[in-house]
Amino acid sequence: MCDIVMEPRAARQEQAQLASTLTMLGIESSCDDTASAIVSCTDQSRPTILASINQDQASLHVAYGGVVPEIAARAHAERLDGCVAEVLARAKLDLAELDGVAVTAGPGLIGGLLAGLSFAKGVCAGAGLPLLGVNHLAGHALTVRLTDDVAFPYLALLASGGHCQFLAVRGASHFLRLGGTIDDAPGEAFDKCARILGFPQPGGPSIEGAARSGDPHRFAFPRPLAGRDGCDMSFSGLKTAVLHAHHQQTSADAGLARQVCNDIAASFQAAVSDVFAEKLAIAHHVFEQAIGHPPRVFALCGGVAANQQIRRALKTVCDRCGSTLIAPHPQLCTDNAAMIAWAGIERFRLGLRDDLSLIARPRWPLDATSAPMLGHGKKGARA
Ligand code: KG4
Ligand code: ZN
Repeated sequence: MCDIVMEPRAARQEQAQLASTLTMLGIESSCDDTASAIVSCTDQSRPTILASINQDQASLHVAYGGVVPEIAARAHAERLDGCVAEVLARAKLDLAELDGVAVTAGPGLIGGLLAGLSFAKGVCAGAGLPLLGVNHLAGHALTVRLTDDVAFPYLALLASGGHCQFLAVRGASHFLRLGGTIDDAPGEAFDKCARILGFPQPGGPSIEGAARSGDPHRFAFPRPLAGRDGCDMSFSGLKTAVLHAHHQQTSADAGLARQVCNDIAASFQAAVSDVFAEKLAIAHHVFEQAIGHPPRVFALCGGVAANQQIRRALKTVCDRCGSTLIAPHPQLCTDNAAMIAWAGIERFRLGLRDDLSLIARPRWPLDATSAPMLGHGKKGARA
């Protein structure tokens, strides 16, 4: 369990005096995190995360080498009640003091989504609150507006365990996909690479930690789709290259020395950074063509955005392209419910509401006008 941010009651009372306050409960259960959060804001002030709880399920899935959907769904159903009760207690709020309940309605694992939706519907029906179905990817992409004063439109790279896409974010429910992965998601590649090297899951933090003591130039891993037009990306070949390097080194050294693992990790991370960096520069142009002016802000979001080396590499590109990189605190990059509560507030402000007929959508593209992305990731359906 981890806390993201907690603000004292005084901050909320101060906000409420300034203008009428909007207070939203967020619920996230699309993969292997049971999370709840309460976000509050007024028209005049920056939003505040009053409380945020994230109960990860790593210990339940560790023996299986990946997320087991049925185990995840059962754990969500068992934990949501306590998770929400606790977040309300931490924020010192009653259900009656909320203005709505925002819940992840997709994309993700169907069992987890259904557990979250059923719970949220029950709360809304019982307490007479509006229900808001949130797209998990919109939650990631809008997080920079929760943490920073970012205006539409902006360029975003959403890089997580199941998704990877460049977006022009034109409004809270208006996304244009500029490009994306044609095969695996980068987080999935980090996780796979960690598994090959015998590092713990999730792979991103393990690889990043090992890479700090590794040589990023020792292994010349490919930069897939380098030199091609457009900002599509590919990560499956990179994953395979890591596997080959591991096999070669294992037979040569009769067991893999820690330093070799660190060097593979550093070389892999450098390759992912380079792919992002090249495609980000192109994405700036694609954005300008689509929107009519270059992006002022580039938002790096999703779990992979927690990676400091990737942040540094992409900041260099932004400096060159004249945009400002904004990447939320790492705990707000990986899955959390504050981003769902915030996306709910954005929808609420647009006058959007759902009712008890809201359905779970395992596949739910942010940009319905672009052709669907191919494939189905280990951590759920892609959008
Ligand atoms: O956004 P997220 O929490 O869940 C999904 O929506 O998929 O992203 C999880 C992914 C995992 O694959 C994890 O390995 C990766 O984000 N990740 C990282 C880092 N922290 C988490 N990847 C690279 N570097 C990190 N520091
Ligand atoms: Zn996510």
